[in-house]
Amino acid sequence: MGRETNSDTIVRADGVTKTFTDEAGEYSVLRGVSFSIAEGETVALIGVSGAGKTTLLQILGGLDKASSGSIEVGGRDLNRLPATALSHFRSQFIGFVFQFHHLLPDFTAIENICIPGMIRGRAKKQCVPRAEELLNVMGLDRQANHYPAELSGGERQRVALARALFNDPALVLADEPTGNLDGENSRQLLALFKKANKELKQTFLVATHNERLAEGMDRMLYMEDGRVARRS
Ligand SMILES: Nc1ncnc2c1ncn2[C@@H]1O[C@H](COP(=O)(O)OP(=O)(O)O)[C@@H](O)[C@H]1O
Ligand SMILES: [Mg+2]
Repeated sequence: MGRETNSDTIVRADGVTKTFTDEAGEYSVLRGVSFSIAEGETVALIGVSGAGKTTLLQILGGLDKASSGSIEVGGRDLNRLPATALSHFRSQFIGFVFQFHHLLPDFTAIENICIPGMIRGRAKKQCVPRAEELLNVMGLDRQANHYPAELSGGERQRVALARALFNDPALVLADEPTGNLDGENSRQLLALFKKANKELKQTFLVATHNERLAEGMDRMLYMEDGRVARRS
């Protein structure tokens, strides 16, 4: 799993389009998106609301399909992966962090972090050491047995990040991860992204409106008119 890419390019999108069709007709959200991300980079994805950031992240993470164009993630051509291989790819290769933490309310912090391991068929007992290590990285040792309702918003989002990192994904896709956090908690989350990037070697692509978060990444990709341009 993980890091066996052919080159040090981890994401390569070439001419990616996405068109939605509804009652009102066809709507092209992505109109030829091309960019690449090197392994180990932290990249911000910025652009106004509705620019297509979420759509692009979902396609990169194998949750949605492009209408045309090619996408390689970790050397795999996502258009050519059959559904079973795609779900395998997602669980091994991608970590998702969303605006809403999506923690399971009836599970403790440590149990929530273990879930990606349990989905892959490991017993809870086998998952605990890894979950404890991640709790420690996140500065949440004391909250291991707290339920989501007993955590602050910032702590919940750090548990969600730990859960995303559980399977040691090569690529972390985060969609407005600080959208519900105050300034201090946003700063903490940024620091943890950088720490995971440095110590655990994860590559990050982070869609965000938070300027400080965007500026904390190595570089920015700017979405406009269904395309992506490089910034800074
Ligand atoms: N499943 C869908 N069906 C139709 N339109 C969609 C769908 N998903 C997203 N869109 C439209 O695509 C555009 C881009 O959405 P999105 O990717 O969520 O943008 P962003 O994350 O940058 O705010 C929006 O106009 C949105 O309404
Ligand atoms: Mg969005």
